[in-house]
Amino acid sequence: MNILLVGGSGFLGRELAQKASAIGHGVTATFATRPVDIPGIRWLPMDLRRSEEITSTLGEAQPDVVINAAYRKADWATTADGAIDLAMAATQHGSRLVHVSSDAVFSGADVRYDESAMPDPVTPYGAAKAAAETAIRQFAPTAVIARTSLIIGRGDSVHEVLTHDLVSGRENGVLFTDVVRCPVHVADLARAILELTTSDHAGVCHLAGPDAVSRHELGVLIAGRDGSDASTLAVGRHADTRSPGALDVRLDSTRTQRTLRTELRGARDFLQRAR
Ligand SMILES: NC(=O)c1ccc[n+]([C@@H]2O[C@H](COP(=O)([O-])OP(=O)(O)OC[C@H]3O[C@@H](n4cnc5c(N)ncnc54)[C@H](OP(=O)(O)O)[C@@H]3O)[C@@H](O)[C@H]2O)c1
Repeated sequence: MNILLVGGSGFLGRELAQKASAIGHGVTATFATRPVDIPGIRWLPMDLRRSEEITSTLGEAQPDVVINAAYRKADWATTADGAIDLAMAATQHGSRLVHVSSDAVFSGADVRYDESAMPDPVTPYGAAKAAAETAIRQFAPTAVIARTSLIIGRGDSVHEVLTHDLVSGRENGVLFTDVVRCPVHVADLARAILELTTSDHAGVCHLAGPDAVSRHELGVLIAGRDGSDASTLAVGRHADTRSPGALDVRLDSTRTQRTLRTELRGARDFLQRAR
């Protein structure tokens, strides 16, 4: 199968590119600003804010499936408009679409969210993700919208790097005890997305781990796995900062998990097990 991986140079994108290629798919991957060299992958530069680049990339890649793992947090033109333009172009091209979305579409008012929950974002990033989801659900009902939560890797995710920087004193800051999410391991997430890519799933799928942990507990688990001193991690409460942002958002992935061979492990599991 020919896969076009948009955002292939990103954290999730690189894992997807390697795994898709390893299981025999033809992979064309895009980067916006950071070219990457992964053997066996064809790389193309593409900016989602330029519709002519979307058209020419689809023309070159001739994909059976387009996976969109690209976003830029503070940029509506990429995360909403660009994602929608890509989805429309992929649909016109006759390609299946898997669009990666986020638990940021939820406010936390209901705490636990399954695939039937309606978005109620409280940040510009969440609103951009929700706008893209809504448009895609309307004009591409067979597309998969894969919502996920904090993505953890082998020490190299932004969340792990932040923990290391806080422990070592390279960064000053606190980890919140009242911000709760359901982290997922990047390897599990990539496998699950590739499973959905070749399935007949349609609509919203939740791909998060089963363990709900606070940002602070996550930091403690990461520090423990990596042999550093978690007691130096300062704690705080997001509620005291008065800045916008959801507190307790738990993606319930039970329904999607039941249909997958890939196990989405919880953070307490994959961070303990790696010790
Ligand atoms: N990381 C998390 O904890 C987390 C949590 C929930 C959901 N998600 C979702 O998971 C997906 C992947 O996240 P990630 O952490 O892997 O992101 P990432 O590492 O920041 O990578 C983002 C990717 O998007 C590309 N990109 C940025 N602006 C672009 C533009 N204008 N046109 C085309 N490509 C552009 C980047 O290209 P360059 O690097 O080459 O500039 C990069 O390949 C996103 O949909 C995100 O919303 C992530």
